[in-house]
Amino acid sequence: MKFFIDTASLEQIREAHSLGVLDGVTTNPSLMAKEGISGTDRIYKHYVDICGSVDGDVSAEVIATDLKGIISEGEHLASLHPNIVVKVPMIRDGVKAIKHFTDKGIRTNCTLVFSAGQALLAAKAGATYVSPFIGRLDDVSTDGLALIEQIRLIYDNYGLETQVLAASIRHPMHIVQCAELGADVATCPLNAILALFEHPLTAIGLEKFLADHRKASAAAAK
Ligand code: G3P
Repeated sequence: MKFFIDTASLEQIREAHSLGVLDGVTTNPSLMAKEGISGTDRIYKHYVDICGSVDGDVSAEVIATDLKGIISEGEHLASLHPNIVVKVPMIRDGVKAIKHFTDKGIRTNCTLVFSAGQALLAAKAGATYVSPFIGRLDDVSTDGLALIEQIRLIYDNYGLETQVLAASIRHPMHIVQCAELGADVATCPLNAILALFEHPLTAIGLEKFLADHRKASAAAAK
């Protein structure tokens, strides 16, 4: 399973990249706003900077919601860097735009997906990635992981090549469970990735190894 980081923070992207396990980045307008990035030119420059900080796909989301606007914005985003994947919302004009981008060889990520039917539409239009938001489903007492399982089954039934990109991940067990269910990608906040490193027995075991080594070295030095 590929690991993407879900942020527009260059600092966090660089930190995740330095771990050696990062395969890409996803952003959205809220994450860009959180970093104080606004205005078309600054936003485009920031995407180029992100592409320079990671070796992998970078999802850049369109703001337009009409077909003409999505197409023109998406084509511009795609021209910024070969690693840009145009992120398009799951709306009618979004799906039409995904079909247009697919025909032109522009890669897409269909976002704001909350049902298997929506995921089927995105795949039929040729989306490169589909982004089911599992945390937001959990937030409304619906099983987000069950949606990952359902989409995996449907895509496998028909050999649909759209990659399942589990999004809205909130904690490390979401990542592990997505891997068990066969998601192609998990896009995660940095703290969820870092939490995967942690286990009390690892910390206790390492402390003991080092203490024993110190003891043996001290005894040998006598
Ligand atoms: O980038 C899309 C998605 O990952 C958003 O996550 O935490 O805002 O539900 P969240």
